[in-house]
Amino acid sequence: MRCVVLGGGGHARVVIDAIQASGEATTVAILDADRSRWGTELQGVPITGGDDQLAAVLASGVTHFVVGIGSVRDTGPRRRLFERASACGLTALLVRHPSAVSSPWARMGGGSVLLANAVVNAGATVGENVIVNTGAIVEHDCLIGDHVHIATGARLASGVRVGMGAHVGAGAVVRQQIVIGEEAVVGAGAVVVRDVAPRTVVVGVPARPLEIWAGRSIG
Ligand SMILES: CC(C)(COP(=O)(O)OP(=O)(O)OC[C@H]1O[C@@H](n2cnc3c(N)ncnc32)[C@H](O)[C@@H]1OP(=O)(O)O)[C@@H](O)C(=O)NCCC(=O)NCCS
Repeated sequence: MRCVVLGGGGHARVVIDAIQASGEATTVAILDADRSRWGTELQGVPITGGDDQLAAVLASGVTHFVVGIGSVRDTGPRRRLFERASACGLTALLVRHPSAVSSPWARMGGGSVLLANAVVNAGATVGENVIVNTGAIVEHDCLIGDHVHIATGARLASGVRVGMGAHVGAGAVVRQQIVIGEEAVVGAGAVVVRDVAPRTVVVGVPARPLEIWAGRSIG
């Protein structure tokens, strides 16, 4: 399988590494909106141009793509790239680093990326274009919407539901059965013990909306 990676920054390094380690596809090119990167390479893969090259890449025999840009809050750019590449007729590649564990009883959507030491347990459903980042844990029966980012080292206990496009920050812990709304953001290190409304940002232990924390000593 020949694939293209969309985005040539830091997250792409880890994605390409995982693809190479898995041996399931060959990354033949990277497309990146940043012109200063064109003509350079990342871990042996050439950055050949911008997203306007998608049709040409498809015509050259590349069949698959994966989004290689990360996110620290807003997952929108990742969603838009995914939709653009899908509309061009490319197929979203499921990437699993060989050290990641995904149960045969879990379901994983196309374009999702399980990085080193990530775990997705039995009965979990992970949508399309989801990042389960390095060392993150998605426990049994969780339901993860499309384009979500479960950041490095975050841990979701059983039965957690995460709405489309949400971001669960690095090292966050989410109690079992919690619902995190669409495009919500859980700050790094938060401990979530109550449901999170769509498009809100929560931080802290226990997690509370960011505006409640503002002006207070978070300690
Ligand atoms: C929650 C978050 C989105 C807020 O970002 P922001 O809106 O730019 O917030 P700011 O950095 O301006 O901070 C605003 C206030 O919230 C506090 N704050 C920010 N993030 C916090 C967090 N994760 N936990 C506790 N407090 C936090 C700040 O200390 C600041 O408090 P103050 O007003 O008393 O000084 C961001 O800090 C965060 O945690 N993002 C997740 C990053 C991540 O997961 N990265 C890994 C990618 S693999």
